[in-house]
Amino acid sequence: MPSPFRIEPFDKKRHGRDRFDCGQPMLNNYIQHQVSADIRRNLARCYAAVHEDEPARLAGYYTLSAYSVEAGGLPEELEKLPYPEIPSVLIGRLACCRTFRGMGLGKALVVDALKRAVAMHDHLGIHLVVVDRLGEDVVEFYAKFGFEETENGQLILPVKTVKASMRS
Ligand SMILES: CC(C)(COP(=O)(O)OP(=O)(O)OC[C@H]1O[C@@H](n2cnc3c(N)ncnc32)[C@H](O)[C@@H]1OP(=O)(O)O)[C@@H](O)C(=O)NCCC(=O)NCCS
Repeated sequence: MPSPFRIEPFDKKRHGRDRFDCGQPMLNNYIQHQVSADIRRNLARCYAAVHEDEPARLAGYYTLSAYSVEAGGLPEELEKLPYPEIPSVLIGRLACCRTFRGMGLGKALVVDALKRAVAMHDHLGIHLVVVDRLGEDVVEFYAKFGFEETENGQLILPVKTVKASMRS
């Protein structure tokens, strides 16, 4: 069945945020008050999901930023890389409005973020996709996409693994 959600670059004039509530005040506050400043200062890019029946209402969002992860504390094969920091892309924040939970929106947001990471890595060295564990316990949710938890609690997924899963 095709997804009822469309994901596009966040636009404060088109994506109504007033009713957005993901249950996590910090993630609500971010999309309502902080995201535009982050975009303007080139600290993050934000992607918004809307449902086909309510195209002017924000259903979910995620942000992407350039990032680097200290190699110490990563799984052994990554620690062997010849740099102390590993170039990465960060899914900084990701949230779905409670109205749209359990409809595959969270999954659609993660898949969209991974596709963008793969597209970017053709132009820029990116070894890992990293998730900051904000909000509720999402280790199991991200494990569905192959993310593994590191010693310091971040969730990581090598871009080469994403590419391989997209081919199969
Ligand atoms: C976590 C979150 C993004 C999931 O969104 P969602 O739209 O309900 O998820 P989906 O409907 O796409 O679910 C996809 C799969 O993940 C599972 N899942 C959903 N939330 C989960 C959770 N918290 N833990 C484990 N699995 C979860 C679903 O059961 C489903 O499994 P299936 O594919 O086997 O059927 C959403 O609950 C949310 O926005 N939470 C608050 C904000 C937050 O904590 N964000 C994380 C910060 S990075």
